[in-house]
Amino acid sequence: MIGKEKRHSRNMEKWRKRYEEERELRREIREAAEDILRSENFNATKEHLQHGNMTVNDHCIRVAKCSLALSKRLGIRCSQRELIRGALLHDYFLYDWHEVDRVNPHRLHGFFHPGRALKNASAEYDLTLREREIIKKHMWPLTVVPPTCREAWIVTTADKWCSLMETFGVHKGHGKVLEKVKYIRLKESEQ
Ligand SMILES: [Fe+2]
Ligand SMILES: [Fe+2]
Repeated sequence: MIGKEKRHSRNMEKWRKRYEEERELRREIREAAEDILRSENFNATKEHLQHGNMTVNDHCIRVAKCSLALSKRLGIRCSQRELIRGALLHDYFLYDWHEVDRVNPHRLHGFFHPGRALKNASAEYDLTLREREIIKKHMWPLTVVPPTCREAWIVTTADKWCSLMETFGVHKGHGKVLEKVKYIRLKESEQ
C-alpha cells in the first residue's frame, strides 16, 4: 500500500514538473513572438493541414516548443528569441500543400517550400541572419547545403522529430478550424 502511494506521488510530481515546463515554454514563446502569434497570416495557417490531422499552425508552435526544450535539455547556448521566431516561421509557405492548385501547383513541395516560406516571412518581418538560416535550411539534407548556425541545427532536428510523430499519429492535431466550424454549423442546421 505504501509502495502504491509512493508511486502515485512520484507520478504526480512528474506530471506537475511537465506541466510547469510546458507553461514556461509557452510563456517564453509568447514573450519572444507575440506579434507573429497574433498576426493574421500566421493565424490563417490554422486552415492548412501539415501532417495527419495537425495544422501548419499547431505544427510550427510544436516545433518552436520542441526546439526550445531541446536547447535547454542539452544546454546548447543560442539566441532563444531567434530560435523561437525562426521555428514559428519555418513553414510560412501559406498554402495547403494537400489541395490541388492548378494555377500555382505545389510541385516538389518538400524542396521548394523553405524558399517560399522565407520570401513570405521576409515580406512581413525584419528577419535576422539566423532566422533566415533557420527557415532556409530546415529541410536539410533535402536543401543540400547544411545549416551554419546552432539555431538552424536545433530547428531542423526538432522539425524532423515533430513531423515523424505527427505522421505516425503519436502527436494528434484537431484538424482545420474551418472544417470544425462547418461541422458545428451542419449539426446546428440538422437540429
Ligand atoms: Fe517544412
Ligand atoms: Fe515543419
